[in-house]
Amino acid sequence: MTEGTKRRILSGMRPTGKLHLGNYYGALQNWLRLQEEYECFYFVADWHALTTEYDDPGPLGGYVMEMAMDWLAAGLDPERSTLFVQSAIPEHTELFLIFGMFTPVPWLERNPTYKDQMRELAHKELATYGFLGYPVLQAADILMYKAHGVPVGVDQVPHVEMTREIARRFNHLYRPIFPEPEALLAEVPKLTGIDGRKMSKSYNNCIYLSDPPEVVTQKVRQMVTDVGRPYRRDPGEPDRCLAFPFHRLNLPAEKIEEIVTACRSAELGCVDCKNLLAEALVANLAPIYEKRRYYEEHPEAVREVLLEGNRRAREMARRTMREVREAIGFKLEFQLWA
Ligand code: TRP
Repeated sequence: MTEGTKRRILSGMRPTGKLHLGNYYGALQNWLRLQEEYECFYFVADWHALTTEYDDPGPLGGYVMEMAMDWLAAGLDPERSTLFVQSAIPEHTELFLIFGMFTPVPWLERNPTYKDQMRELAHKELATYGFLGYPVLQAADILMYKAHGVPVGVDQVPHVEMTREIARRFNHLYRPIFPEPEALLAEVPKLTGIDGRKMSKSYNNCIYLSDPPEVVTQKVRQMVTDVGRPYRRDPGEPDRCLAFPFHRLNLPAEKIEEIVTACRSAELGCVDCKNLLAEALVANLAPIYEKRRYYEEHPEAVREVLLEGNRRAREMARRTMREVREAIGFKLEFQLWA
């Protein structure tokens, strides 16, 4: 496929650990869908992770591999999508620096995601230059590959918005070379962790793509269901049940209807109902689990995918940076690597 014939998609994830079902249904499935139709670039945003993990970056390297394994196991296809690692493409830092020259600090201070994160991570020293500049780095990631669509969650929409403003500003100041990307919001199912709180590594309430079947089954059995149904004989309400969104994602529609009826009439109890879910979920995750096992045993295959992705990404990054330097007026003849 030659460049420009397909619209380009780019997105990244911070390597903060193994992927859980929240990440899978919330983001990864959308990425998988998009790769059917578009030229996709997906990358591990390890520099972005460093903005908050600068005091303990040790695990980041390992998480990069874990993330790549989860991606491949879930079905991201390196033949169709370019899978790469941000920190392997030094051009991102150069573009970040250049964007930093004309991005007004008040844009960054006003950013709602920045303010939320500051509040959420109040225990950390995050009044840093790098953390304030997080969306500028993100703009460099996106514009480097001239992406048209950026699949992200709602919390990231302000960053894509700022990317558009940065693109506009660059195009106006120098020469129009960057398209303005759009955020692609997918419908995200409302999933909670097994204890009913938001599914999050720090709450220890996640089901991971890498969990073996018996662990998945055990976690499903622990799931909080309908708190308005204290006794087995009480009629239940699937709309109140915290496990039910998982049923919807894993069981066929006819089965769902049956369950709804049997729950409301108290024919079906939560224990049996969760067993149905466990069985379906385990079956659906089995191919991912098996594939992941393969990659765990063959880390060299994962490294090879990332190396090839890095090569492809870097080639495009080099090309963009040549255009950028030219647009600004830097003389290429002095540059050893261009
Ligand atoms: N900030 C994103 C997140 O936390 C990760 C990210 C970094 C990203 N660079 C990106 C997402 C570029 C989309 C495009 O989820």
